[in-house]
Amino acid sequence: MKKMEQLYEGKAKKVFATDDADLCIVDYKDDATAFNGQKKGTIIGKGVVNNKMSNYLFKLLESKGIPTHLVEQLSDRETLVKKVEIVPLEVIVRNKAAGSMAKRLGLKEGTELLCPVLEFSYKCDELDDPMINESHALAVGYATKEEIDKISSMALKVNEILCEFFRSVNIELIDFKLEFGRYHGEILLADEISPDTCRFWDVNTHEKLDKDRFRRDMGGVEEAYQEVMGRIGL
Ligand code: C5P
Repeated sequence: MKKMEQLYEGKAKKVFATDDADLCIVDYKDDATAFNGQKKGTIIGKGVVNNKMSNYLFKLLESKGIPTHLVEQLSDRETLVKKVEIVPLEVIVRNKAAGSMAKRLGLKEGTELLCPVLEFSYKCDELDDPMINESHALAVGYATKEEIDKISSMALKVNEILCEFFRSVNIELIDFKLEFGRYHGEILLADEISPDTCRFWDVNTHEKLDKDRFRRDMGGVEEAYQEVMGRIGL
């Protein structure tokens, strides 16, 4: 597989073309941003953690029937993936109130929810990823009804699988963000699942083991990322 020209550079990853038009290579960086790029920094080793952790979790999800873009890990930071057309939605699943939901609804972080919450945002940096509902997504044409139904059921199934998995390593999955892609008429789970895109709390101490440590200047950011890796056995 030949790595060719760079197609895209995002806040945390670069994407390269390959000599196969159906595949591309994702290269994970250590750059960290928060609040839509307003806060910038580096989390040493983050690219390696996010690459390996995402691949581990995508394989777990594949084994439980969730189709993903993963083809194979090429190196510590690089992974070969199917070249999808990203659906312009950020799909957030929440098990406890935290972050923007806690703030918006005036809830204490960690408040129990009676059922998981599914949220959509329109993926657009210029607009700060505004929250939308299914009706907006259909009306503006971000996705079809069939795609939204598929994405919703996949996101809730991913939540069940990941909650069970993380609980087995003493981590509570508070919330997370997923992205999906179109690939030859199929919807695949794409992007990444990592401490950048999830809230992980230690089950016993409620210590934060995710990017909130960077967002909130709590220190111990690299250590938290490594702690989650260690618990997963990576
Ligand atoms: O900020 P908020 O509480 O809405 O974030 C919910 C979840 O989605 C968190 O786990 C956060 O890490 C993730 N997220 C993300 N990328 C975004 C927005 C949120 O990974 N652009």
